Amino acid sequence: MILNKTLRSRAWFDNPDNIDMTALYLERYLNFGLSLEELRSGKPIIGIAQSGSDLSPCNRHHIVLAERVREGIREAGGIALEFPVHPIQETGKRPTAGLDRNLAYIGLVELLYGYPIDAVVLTTGCDKTTPASLMAAATVDIPAIALSVGPMLNGWHKGQRTGSGTIVWKAREMLAEGTIDDEEFIRLVASSAPSTGYCNTMGTATTMNSLAEALGMMLPGTATIPAPHRDRQEAAYRTGKRIVEMVAEDLKPSDIMTRDSFLNAIAVNSAIGGSTNAPIHLAALARHLGVELHLSDWQKHGHDIPLLVNLQPAGEFLGEDFHRAGGVPAVTGELIRQGLIRETAMTVNGRSIGDNCRECASLDPQVIRPFDDPLMPKAGFIVLSGNLFDAAIMKTSVIGEEFCARYLSDPEDPDAFEGPVIVFDGPEDYHRRIDDPALGITDRHMLIMRGAGPVGYPGAAEVVNMRPPAYLLSQGVHALPCVGDGRQSGTSASPSILNAAPEAAVGGPLALVQTGDRLRIDLGKGRVDLLVEEGELARRRAALDAEGGYPFPPSQTPWQEIQRALVGQMDSGAILEGSEKYQRIAKTMGLP
Ligand code: FES
Ligand code: MG
Repeated sequence: MILNKTLRSRAWFDNPDNIDMTALYLERYLNFGLSLEELRSGKPIIGIAQSGSDLSPCNRHHIVLAERVREGIREAGGIALEFPVHPIQETGKRPTAGLDRNLAYIGLVELLYGYPIDAVVLTTGCDKTTPASLMAAATVDIPAIALSVGPMLNGWHKGQRTGSGTIVWKAREMLAEGTIDDEEFIRLVASSAPSTGYCNTMGTATTMNSLAEALGMMLPGTATIPAPHRDRQEAAYRTGKRIVEMVAEDLKPSDIMTRDSFLNAIAVNSAIGGSTNAPIHLAALARHLGVELHLSDWQKHGHDIPLLVNLQPAGEFLGEDFHRAGGVPAVTGELIRQGLIRETAMTVNGRSIGDNCRECASLDPQVIRPFDDPLMPKAGFIVLSGNLFDAAIMKTSVIGEEFCARYLSDPEDPDAFEGPVIVFDGPEDYHRRIDDPALGITDRHMLIMRGAGPVGYPGAAEVVNMRPPAYLLSQGVHALPCVGDGRQSGTSASPSILNAAPEAAVGGPLALVQTGDRLRIDLGKGRVDLLVEEGELARRRAALDAEGGYPFPPSQTPWQEIQRALVGQMDSGAILEGSEKYQRIAKTMGLP
């Protein structure tokens, strides 16, 4: 590594005009074992943003991997400084892990900006940890590389693959139907998580790590290596080595994550059957980079792309299988051959995505299907609007034939569905009432979830995938259409219209819906409309305003209050509004 006087860390350690301050910095960093010689060497200081901890078990294996990252950094001539980032555990955080993405983001921005760090290894994994760290690296814009912790090994129960998250939805149905007892329920669910790592299904974790690779921010082929594999250790080492080279090359997030890379990520997301959380996180990331990306890009560039990856919940396999079949490069290679990838997009290894993936192909056509024999055609999202919201998305590939038949309003128009709605105000209300026969839910009803958006249920709850009441499940009705201003777990395969913006809590028309109203979903026209006259809606609006607007529970923590005051809606990434004006801030770095 060449000594480089332009490293930003030199502003802390080589400060001839202020020698006493330099001494102070040196003394503090020496006391854990760095030598004076190392700190004066001019070697780049590489941060390892550690997202693993006992509080975030999905990412915990990064504590082990970081040792190999350090060795790679040292080998290549850098100095490693590992530090914690705010932990986020998808299933453990109350009220929602969604609340913490922006908190981890804002915290990591301060660390990367305010300390002598020349480049950073982002340790990614559990759902929000990946977007949070990419967003922070994007804002600061120092060389950055992501290291996935990798999925858990496959889960097995009685000879069947059990996928994390997905099995929970299924086990809940079985428990509600009475086909399993509590004991069996726990055993079934626990079987899906047999090792360290993140969810082994195509949930938000696999999605976001795959997309980090598709965006060019991860070494090719490394997103999907299962956490316990030997190769995962090697990937950690190579990632550490590579980040030091990236400093010399001054290869930054803004050089890699261009509009082309985002369009590539959208294409890959369709082909892998990625989570409906991806549009939120990619919108946030694009805004922090200043890259133009609209929700409509998802439909335009993603909807017609078929589902190639046969992973639960849409398919049958799990993370180990995806990796064995070639992972993200195999999918990307397949899309390249169809002309669906912008091949010149740069990646962290200094090569274009085309050069990295052009020769890659599926090693198991059962798991990664050929483009002309996909699992489903048109696997992307459609973007919907109407009198109920300005924007929402839907994964149309999960809509089955039997489902369509129940809601068809006009046999001439196979794209339009109608039904009466049942309204729930937040997840607690839903859980309290869903099995109450007094609600009279039939297999013709549609379920509305509101009060679950970024402001209403701070961070936005993953609750729009609502299971039908137990009595319908036992009659074989496994899904009702759900519409709401919350999110949906990527591990669920429910036919939902979600991420609706604006949410009820900020005055969106969802606040005006009443149980019994009829809803029309026209997928052909891309519309969702409440079939209630305008005059009546205006009367309801006036009544709601008189009561002070749609009620939501008070904030319980200071951060909830701060986030609620600043957060935007999901169609534009649910970022802290105003924070996007801070771009490429490493350039502005100067000591006071
Ligand atoms: Fe952390 Fe699924 S709960 S990855
Ligand atoms: Mg999730």
